Amino acid sequence: PEIRRSDYAPFPWLVPTTRLEFELGLERTRVTARLDVERNPVAAVSPTIRLNGDGLELASLTCDGGEPEGRMMDGDDLLVTLSGDRHVLEIVTEIDPSANSQLMGLYASGGMLCTQCEAEGFRRITFFPDRPDVLSTYSVRMSGAKAQFPVLLCNGNRVDSGESADGGDHWAEWHDPWPKPSYLFALVAGDLVARSDSFTTMGGRDVELNVYVRDGDLDRTEHAMESLKRSMKWDEEVFGREYDLDLFNIVAVSDFNMGAMENKGLNIFNTKYVLADTETATDGDYDGIEGVIGHEYFHNWSGNRVTCRDWFQLSLKEGFTVLRDQLFSADMGSEPVKRIEDVRILRGVQFPEDSGPLAHPIRPDSYREISNFYTATVYNKGAEVIRMMRTMAGEKAFRRGTDLYFKRHDGEAATCEDFVRAMEDGTGLDLEQFRLWYSQAGTPKVAATLSHDGDVATLKLTQTVPPTPGQPDKKPMPIPFRVALFDRKAGTHSGEQLLVLDRASAEFTFEGFAHKPVLSINRGFSAPVSIERDVSREELVFLAARDDDPFARYEAMQELMTGYLVGSVSGDLDESESEAARGDIAEALKAVVEDDQLDDLMRGELLMMPSQSYIGEQMLVADPGAIHVAREALKTDLGTRLGEALHRLYDRAAQVPFSLDAEAKGARKIKTLVLSYAAASDPAKAAELAASQYDRADNMTDRQGALMVLAGLDSAERTARLLDFYNRYRGNALVVDKWFALQASSLHPQVVAHVEALRSHPDFNLRNPNRVRSLYMAFAANPAGFHAADGAGYRMIADLVLELDPINAQTAARFVPSLGRWRRIEEKRAAMMRDALERIARAPKLSRDTFEQVTRSLG
Ligand code: ARG
Ligand code: ZN
Repeated sequence: PEIRRSDYAPFPWLVPTTRLEFELGLERTRVTARLDVERNPVAAVSPTIRLNGDGLELASLTCDGGEPEGRMMDGDDLLVTLSGDRHVLEIVTEIDPSANSQLMGLYASGGMLCTQCEAEGFRRITFFPDRPDVLSTYSVRMSGAKAQFPVLLCNGNRVDSGESADGGDHWAEWHDPWPKPSYLFALVAGDLVARSDSFTTMGGRDVELNVYVRDGDLDRTEHAMESLKRSMKWDEEVFGREYDLDLFNIVAVSDFNMGAMENKGLNIFNTKYVLADTETATDGDYDGIEGVIGHEYFHNWSGNRVTCRDWFQLSLKEGFTVLRDQLFSADMGSEPVKRIEDVRILRGVQFPEDSGPLAHPIRPDSYREISNFYTATVYNKGAEVIRMMRTMAGEKAFRRGTDLYFKRHDGEAATCEDFVRAMEDGTGLDLEQFRLWYSQAGTPKVAATLSHDGDVATLKLTQTVPPTPGQPDKKPMPIPFRVALFDRKAGTHSGEQLLVLDRASAEFTFEGFAHKPVLSINRGFSAPVSIERDVSREELVFLAARDDDPFARYEAMQELMTGYLVGSVSGDLDESESEAARGDIAEALKAVVEDDQLDDLMRGELLMMPSQSYIGEQMLVADPGAIHVAREALKTDLGTRLGEALHRLYDRAAQVPFSLDAEAKGARKIKTLVLSYAAASDPAKAAELAASQYDRADNMTDRQGALMVLAGLDSAERTARLLDFYNRYRGNALVVDKWFALQASSLHPQVVAHVEALRSHPDFNLRNPNRVRSLYMAFAANPAGFHAADGAGYRMIADLVLELDPINAQTAARFVPSLGRWRRIEEKRAAMMRDALERIARAPKLSRDTFEQVTRSLG
């Protein structure tokens, strides 16, 4: 059944306090829950209370110490008759964590016990009103075998502990003073060690910090701990948010469906976002850890202190928290590079979502399975929407808005509407029409043309918001553009302006231009839209070399390459036009290579070719094979034309000694980029260079980069280095994940066969989401393999979904969207993608997760 946003009603009962007792065992855990319930004065009166369950067996139930007046099961839920205004319910369940392969609720991972309750996992532990608007104060007693579970952790503060008379068992008593919804509950029991530190808040509170990992991983936790302390400081300085408990624990687990989880005072993380040292983690891994540690920490305010009324409001916490983690990472490193990376993710993942069968607004209107809505739209477009408010209000006013939001809704389960209203009241903006960004799906398209007459330049902007499933007709939305007009002779502009396009079409005039200026629009990517601008190649070359906004400069470079590739795939360019375009691109790239004002991190961005998926996105119907060929051909051409300049760049970068500072990171980025151009233009030379970079590497970034290039080449170096890599790092799960992913995402013509063979590798494990993703997500994102002309890639993903669905539905469903793109792919492949989806749909028993994604994808 579909759940609708418009059906929201407050829960008839309040649960002011919840007492949980866990008798822990890997195969059998007994849970005793005592709920104090009372009628909710602002809700409709109900004769029963609905306690959600999911696959639970009820061992016993009492109401006020005796038999309840009535009880019945409604599907998996338990309904209990309650006639008075206040009652005490006691519920006993028994669960088997070792059999929990879905990794939702309480499960076993590598001998320890841990939980994941967001969004609806708590109902797999005990019967409870498992919805985010029911806030309760929890006290928890955990007991279990001391040898097996020496560490017992829960939310809040540990208030007591002890052991059994014979010393075999021990127990701990935890109390969380902050009322919270059940999705923020967490518990961990296992044999763990901690890196400990402390942080003193701006108000003088001393907070004990711990990062818990398995024995042997401790020396890979320094970066996580430092990231945590930086996050705590940053949130005080930039958002005025202070931590509110005496303890903050992070636990790393190796079986985890997502990145991490913000449970109150006890964040649980995928090991991928905790463990790092320079030998085994890349620069990208380091940045990922800092970003996710920040993200989960920032949830303490945007998510925990102010939570969501219902799951349709998910972007209230996720969009806002993503924006907060983006701003944090920008402040910790290079702001423009971070912005470019974030836009690349948005355009590579969210734009396709917005233009496909699964398109939904950042605040969806209905769902069958909420896990399917933890999407790039809710997270990343959600962040862009709040960023637009920040751009329109300015930083200072935006801060007044967020202060007001936190103050007004502290301790509440709030809505996106509450957020927007606080923004209006705090900033003075009128956001009436802006609310459309919450309700309308689809990426707006904006056409921009600049004309010139006398000394007046006129910018005409026209927007269309494309139809999406269930939303055929759209209204114009307010779109804020940071704009500058460059004098093409002087190469400068006289100041940036903010224009808000709030109608279908509008004209803006600018005086004082003797010559037609060059338009720089959507600077900093101020709005998450796609722009069709009427711009000549000369103007793009100009902007790529001169624009003072780093994002706009990157954009001009991308547009030069994208324009050429789209034209070349569509057959719109004759030989001489093609030659001229490639010449211009090469000149622009050469200028970037030689511009000594640029740092290498930014230079690397400017040298990067647009992704295959981004190019495909520009075309109504894409031929992945043709795009791949054209893109590789351009790479070959550029590698050839720029060969010498690139190799000089490489030699210079190779001199920079290893460190984690920006200069050295930039040098590493450049080296691998040069290798990938060389792999296209001079494979023999590239193999030699890459093998030598691999052999001499004193860090994982260089080693992985070299191996990535080698993995795509047909050379003896490839086999030898892949074997070496495996032998060197076998036993380190996160690095073995890289080994799988490198092969699955390689440009090698045999990639489909390689993935098939890796499926049978002894280290492959369908029960470990990181391993599944490392092989198959990497493959599904590899156009050369996934879109193999004979359909083998599609069949492989369909086989995987069918096999994984009964084991881990959430992870299985995440593979469906890749097949759902069929409407935008040329017809032969489209038919095979549809076949794959239909084969999944015909399976006798599908999870709700996969069923929803498949039916929506078939449309
Ligand atoms: N709230 C977590 C985060 O973004 C993600 C949890 C997602 N869980 C899920 N079952 N989909 O930090
Ligand atoms: Zn989050």
